Amino acid sequence: MPFSEEFLQELSERNPIEEVVGEYVALTKRSGQNLFGLCPFHSEKTPSFSVSPSKQIYHCFGCGKGGGVINFIMDIERLSFPEAVEFLARRANMQIPEDSYDPNRGRRERLLKLNREAARFFYEQLSTPAGAAAIEYMQKRRISKRIATNFGLGYAPDEWECLSNEMKSRGYSERDLTDAGLAKHGKRGGIYDAFRGRLMFPVIDMRGNVVAFSGRVLGEGEPKYMNSTDTPVFSKSHNLFGLNLAKKSKSGYIILVEGNIDVVSLHQAGFDSAVASLGTSLTSEQANLLSRVTKQVVICYDADSAGVKAAQRAIPLLEKVGLGVRVVTVPEGKDPDEFIKVRGAEAFRALIEDSSSGVEYQLESAARGLDLESDAGKVAYLQNAAEVLSKMPDPVSREVYAMRVASQCSVRVEAVRDAIKQVSSRRVRREKRAFERENTRPERNMQPVGSKIRFENPASARAEMGLINLLYQSPEFFRHEGIPAPEDFSSPELGHIYSAMLELNRAGLETGAAELSSKLSGDEMSIFTSIIQEPVSLSNAERALDDYIGKINGSSRPREDEDLRSVAEQLKKTKGYGG
Ligand code: GTP
Ligand code: MN
Repeated sequence: MPFSEEFLQELSERNPIEEVVGEYVALTKRSGQNLFGLCPFHSEKTPSFSVSPSKQIYHCFGCGKGGGVINFIMDIERLSFPEAVEFLARRANMQIPEDSYDPNRGRRERLLKLNREAARFFYEQLSTPAGAAAIEYMQKRRISKRIATNFGLGYAPDEWECLSNEMKSRGYSERDLTDAGLAKHGKRGGIYDAFRGRLMFPVIDMRGNVVAFSGRVLGEGEPKYMNSTDTPVFSKSHNLFGLNLAKKSKSGYIILVEGNIDVVSLHQAGFDSAVASLGTSLTSEQANLLSRVTKQVVICYDADSAGVKAAQRAIPLLEKVGLGVRVVTVPEGKDPDEFIKVRGAEAFRALIEDSSSGVEYQLESAARGLDLESDAGKVAYLQNAAEVLSKMPDPVSREVYAMRVASQCSVRVEAVRDAIKQVSSRRVRREKRAFERENTRPERNMQPVGSKIRFENPASARAEMGLINLLYQSPEFFRHEGIPAPEDFSSPELGHIYSAMLELNRAGLETGAAELSSKLSGDEMSIFTSIIQEPVSLSNAERALDDYIGKINGSSRPREDEDLRSVAEQLKKTKGYGG
């Protein structure tokens, strides 16, 4: 995979960050060189998200996220590094260099192109007389035009060779069409369209490729849905319908439903994080995919027994990849689509919020593996349960559940209340201490915003950041004699940034965001951009440099005191001083 720095540099040059970011964020020029906009990575009302065209970086002063154009695409499109590179290469019409070339790429690219054209074709059918039936069906299901366009819904006409003939006339072979799952081999040779007379839902992957289709009959008929077979560009178990849109949601959770129509209908009602697995029960690969875009999944399967079973199977798969799981049960045996149509979006939101404590589910988890018949089991369960209940904001439901826990453990409800009180006050104390610590430390403001990284030695870290910034602005200082080794840095992260810069400089390359992006983690890139967006005064650069070097070297030798002490020891021994 490794891309050369030269290639990454060219890729970044041909994808100017202000243009790329501008496609996602409305940017305006304020004072100075930087552009500002509302951060796409956290909710805010006043713009703290900045883009520097001169440095080709973005940096959010609010949440601390930052990086070059590749990092931006990784963050906003939720792509891996090579995927983001591919995305930008496609955007700028660039070839990926040969050595990172995958021999099947050409074939896959052709099938993806065919799928994209097919999706467009299905979409266009909606405005033909034949498509009127599909329009009518969507109206009946109350799918708005806007949401249908967002999802790229279309219509496959009820004919045997409609799509096939069109695509053949555009130069695609029968083999292309059958490989893409869009056509099937006929008994007497030739091919015929796989999807006929169906409302077409394109399945779009995280990278924005149309990888497959799901087609629903208009009205009654068997099979109700037809999904693409697995193809060189599609594996049912590795994709989720709607994820291309849901990944951009700011809601903080993903809603997992069963049906395509549920997904569309939820998005239409403002729940823009709904996805569905493609007619299979959730797989571990899909769980993995979800863990790339969220921390919390709300399962909202149909309330029938199949749905309940599917939910129970999905929960451990999701938990295994570190996702928090909540379960919504839609009352009256309805699916989410029907529920919203009858009861409205607010009622559905209430269902989600109701699940948000997930109390029942969490209590079940709290009891898991414990023997509630034994005294030890009861005590442990009581502790766990108190932990769960103490987080419930509503005192009435807290009391209800406290009574339930009491009867489960056969203790009086007062005992449960006491346990909850203890846990709560312990938490309040803990939070207060943490708050005070955060706000009284003088170095607080220099700690990286929004990341888990904390500098152990703030004084030295400040000098390390100063040195990094100075070297970025004036690379000639890389040749300065006394510059420290990365090991002398007190912060491993800053040391890593520094060593990547040294490496690039030694290879005669620039040390900008484009070149560093393949060497640093997302957090490190964010720290790097927060450092280099600080202005540097170059008039005092030499002095600043010596100052930084002195501080870094000084703090990397806490042995000084020890040295003195051991000298004193020596003196004591040899000359009989002291004791
Ligand atoms: P509506 O009945 O139109 O509301 O459909 P829905 O989108 O709510 O789907 P439903 O809950 O009936 O089914 C859930 C999912 O299972 C669908 O989105 C399909 O992916 C899949 N599915 C349903 N019926 C079939 C079928 O007959 N064949 C296949 N292969 N998959 C199906
Ligand atoms: Mn349905």
